[in-house]
Amino acid sequence: MSDIVYVNGQYVAKQDATISIFDRGFIFGDGVYEVVPVIEGSMVDKEYFLQRLERSLGELRIEWPCTADEILEMMQQLILRNAINEGMVYLQITRGIADREFNFPADTRPSIVGFANHLILLDPPTAKTGIAVVSTPDLRWKRRDIKSVNLLGQVLAKQDAVERGAKEGWMVEDGYVTEGVSSSAYIVKDGVIITRPLTNEILPGIRRRTLFELCEAEGLQLEQRLFTLQEAIDADEAFITSATTVVCPVVSIDGHTIGDGLPGPVAQKLRAVYLTRMKEEAGV
Ligand code: PDD
Repeated sequence: MSDIVYVNGQYVAKQDATISIFDRGFIFGDGVYEVVPVIEGSMVDKEYFLQRLERSLGELRIEWPCTADEILEMMQQLILRNAINEGMVYLQITRGIADREFNFPADTRPSIVGFANHLILLDPPTAKTGIAVVSTPDLRWKRRDIKSVNLLGQVLAKQDAVERGAKEGWMVEDGYVTEGVSSSAYIVKDGVIITRPLTNEILPGIRRRTLFELCEAEGLQLEQRLFTLQEAIDADEAFITSATTVVCPVVSIDGHTIGDGLPGPVAQKLRAVYLTRMKEEAGV
């Protein structure tokens, strides 16, 4: 956990940080968040997260509490003050504090909080072993494209996955995989990378966006279409992407081995080129 956190303009020790019980993030889940990876003390995929934040805030009609540059400065301060070399910064903006009425309150200032954690991104054991995933029903609301703090569907899904011995769940709706509980989901068949197209049904992952660029640069074939759980089980490879896993191979789904049960060449290649890109952005 972060020792020094940010709450509405102040850097404070985590035990001294407080937020009103009337904050609409607390009462309604009325807010948005971002998780930004940190390499060598620098945030990466920086432009894209700001663009997604802008979109999420816009969809919920929450005002920016300050400028994007001020947000970046605050996040960089959290990295410095917590001496994070490798890890992540978390940022949350809610509609603010008001009497409990469902509709938007007038003249409420958005609340902003942030913290930073250590995390192994470049060389975690799962990059070499891959992870097991299990399928779980997608219980979420219909605006999953907004990175909202309203995450109860994912909390229940992750708990289900963990209780069944998996690191991640792949959520399934109408027989098709939507995405990972906290990651984007991909399969590889006959050299083609397959992932669900962007609609309101999934989060537009930042790693997904960057991965598309890397596929193009590497001449890898990518197809955006729905895929079933059975197709995933029958795939040559599977993998996930997210801020906290970058690119992570999946080696089993619902107890079925994927490919030969080892991280596949496409996932490994994409992880390697992704790490190179992150290091370049961080100036390593
Ligand atoms: N989760 N889909 C969902 C539902 C997610 O929660 C996430 C990220 C992703 C991947 O998006 P990105 O590449 O931008 O991290 C896809 C973050 C890491 C979290 O909530 O902790």
